[in-house]
Amino acid sequence: MSFTYSTYLQLEKLLSLQTGSQETINNDELLFVTIHQVAELWFKLFINTLKTVRDYLYENKLSHATSALKRCRMIVKTLVTQMDVISTLSPMAFNEYRNLLGGSSGLQSFQFREIEFVLGYKREELLNIYEKPSWEHERLALALKDNTVNDALKTFLTTQVTSLYADTLDYQTNLIQIYKHEPDIAILLDLLLDVDEGLQEWRYRHVKLVERIIGTKQGTGGTKGLEFLKATLFKPFFPDLWEIRGSL
Ligand code: HEM
Repeated sequence: MSFTYSTYLQLEKLLSLQTGSQETINNDELLFVTIHQVAELWFKLFINTLKTVRDYLYENKLSHATSALKRCRMIVKTLVTQMDVISTLSPMAFNEYRNLLGGSSGLQSFQFREIEFVLGYKREELLNIYEKPSWEHERLALALKDNTVNDALKTFLTTQVTSLYADTLDYQTNLIQIYKHEPDIAILLDLLLDVDEGLQEWRYRHVKLVERIIGTKQGTGGTKGLEFLKATLFKPFFPDLWEIRGSL
């Protein structure tokens, strides 16, 4: 069977999935559904690419890990930029269908949690958000047990670098040595910093989006909304990489 553009990309199926909360979807709700579905697709690619970064690090393939991280950085940048589109949704237009969303919320994005888990920020209690058994619960339970990018980085640096620098030195002191004397590894560390910064930027843009569209109203996921989201700002995935900057 030879593909056409439509059959290869399964466009008939894909373009029938933006259904929304009512029989017909208006343009404002189409925007809301599209932005979330597109974000989930980027999340999928992001998770897969982060896993390849992790695996390359375990295999001591520095240049492969660096290339994959460049892709991760661009995906995050794209996710941040897409906030510009959803920012055009007015509070009045959102109010027209917001109560039909029920208790559904980005809080339940299991792929977002998977991103946090695969990077190294795991919180077991988040599994309670999902019914058990459910496919989301199963996937997240696997991610909870899986090795993370942070684990892989530490193993990579230990095997590659402790031959060069005293393994009696603490992790941050070794990172400083790497930055000063191992330029190829320093590029990798800076890319991790970029990804980390990008995700923090995404969170900031999401907070401002929420503020402009629902103000201080409670979230559909049951949190206090803005107050809850603000508490997640400025929390890095790789704190050591930030804490050493003043010593470089
Ligand atoms: C009209 C636009 C949006 C509004 C009003 C909104 C509102 C909120 C609120 C209030 C929360 C806190 C949880 C709760 O519901 O109680 C939340 C969480 C979240 N939202 Fe949105 N959101 C919007 C767009 C988006 C988009 C486009 C994404 C992309 C996937 C997204 C992803 C998330 C994620 C991942 C969380 C969980 C954050 C965390 O737990 O740290 N949201 N959102």
